[in-house]
Order: sequence, then C-alpha cells, then structure tokens
Amino acid sequence: MPAERSPIDTAKFAAARRAVDFVQDGMKLGLGTGSTAAWMVRCLAERVREEGLRVQGVPTSSRTADLARELGIPVVTLDEARWLDLTIDGADEFDSEFNLIKGGGAALLQEKIVATASDRMIVIADAAKEVAQLGAFPLPVEVIPFGWQSTRMLIEEALIGLDVLGREVTLRRSGEAPLLTDEKNYILDLHLTRIGHPRQLALTLNQIAGVVENGLFIDICDTVVVGHGDGRVTVRDLESGLTEDGQVDLGASRNIFADLGE
Ligand code: 5RP
Repeated sequence: MPAERSPIDTAKFAAARRAVDFVQDGMKLGLGTGSTAAWMVRCLAERVREEGLRVQGVPTSSRTADLARELGIPVVTLDEARWLDLTIDGADEFDSEFNLIKGGGAALLQEKIVATASDRMIVIADAAKEVAQLGAFPLPVEVIPFGWQSTRMLIEEALIGLDVLGREVTLRRSGEAPLLTDEKNYILDLHLTRIGHPRQLALTLNQIAGVVENGLFIDICDTVVVGHGDGRVTVRDLESGLTEDGQVDLGASRNIFADLGE
C-alpha cells in the first residue's frame, strides 16, 4: 500500500479486505455503495481474478454496478438473483446493537432492499463510525419529488413528538439542483443530533405519504468488521456475541492498487 494513503482509507481497506474472506465460491452477493464498499468490490475482484472465485453480484447503485463490471465481477439484478447469501456494505454510523444510519451516498433505498433480501449483512467501517447513540450523522430519507415540500412539513411535524434533539430538515443538492437518487427521488437530510428511539423513528417516517424509505437499518446488520489505520481489524458478530481481532497484510493486494492506477 503506498505510504501516502490516509489512515482512514487504510482502515476502510482493512475492513473491506477482511470482510471479503467471508465470501465463498458460488455465493450471490449484495454489493454496497460508498468509499468503503468500493474497497470491498476491489478486494472481491482480486479474489475473482486470482482464485477463480465464482460469484454473482447485485450492486446497490449504478456507481457500484459500473465499478464491479469494470473489475470483472459478474453482475446480475436482484430480480435475477431473487435471494442473496451475503451483503457487504458500509455505514455512516452504527451503534452497539448494530442499528445503522446509511444513505450518505444516497443509495439507501437499494441498499436496504438488497440487505433485507440477504441471509446475512456484514457492515464494513472505520472505527469512527461507531457511536453510543445514532444521530450525529444527518439521517437521509428518500422522498418522491412530487410534493416534497409537503412531505418535508409532515416530517418536521412528526419529529416534534419524537425523542430527537434537532429537527432541521434539508434537501440534498447536487450543485444548484436537487440530488436525484438512482430511483429518481430526492433525499431529505434530517439533522437530529441524537436519536433516542431509532425503531420508533424509522416506523414513523415510513408512514408519511411521500416517504419512500429512511436510512435507519434496524435489525438488518448481523456482523460488523471495523478497520483501523494500522491494518488491524475487529470482527463482531451480533448473534454469537463473539469478537475476533486480526491484522490485514497491507503489503498484499498490490493488484488492487494497480486497478487504481497507482
Ligand atoms: C451509501 C451509504 C454508505 O455505505 C455510507 O454513506 C458510508 O460511506 P463511506 O464508506 O464512503 O463512508 O450508505 O448510501
């Protein structure tokens, strides 16, 4: 790994590299979105190339689909795959019960559909993503463009009765225009600071007309792989309660960096 790679990128790479060890020949895989998930796609492509691993990948965004195809991972749709063995994805925050905030990369809708159509979800993250309580990261909510201002008002009203600290709701933009998701919807970011009851909030948001899905992933993630800037990794499994520490060889995987043109 080149010396100039930041500790945070090294941490993301380490988590991704370790998580890809859970992939077995013949698996149907959900491929997450974001910078950590992109490392996972590169690490998976390396195993496909070097070990002849046969997998089918269902990407959670057009970005991930492009990267997977470019690196030679066979890509199928979720309708073709129907059900997946494993999804590996990043997260913006996770708590001790493996509840997540996702959607920083605006892909939460496909990410949630893919993760919930999987036997197992592994989240890969750097240590900074672990929080005692969710909510410092603005919660993304995907909404239909039609009447989005009314949807925003309804969300703001609903937040008054909920255990959250902040209530500002902003429309995510790409330059001057509203950012469009892969499903051509808008994203509203809820600046809540602290979410007291994530499950209640998730249920309430999804009952509001115009809301397509929210970025709270409750009871979906099974395992978290946390990477550190020196290549250390910790695998934590929710059901077994087991924690396993390890070390990723940062000198290996040179081809991945060749993929990046380094
Ligand atoms: C995209 C996501 C990402 O997984 C999340 O934003 C984490 O991204 P990164 O790995 O770049 O920090 O939910 O919608």
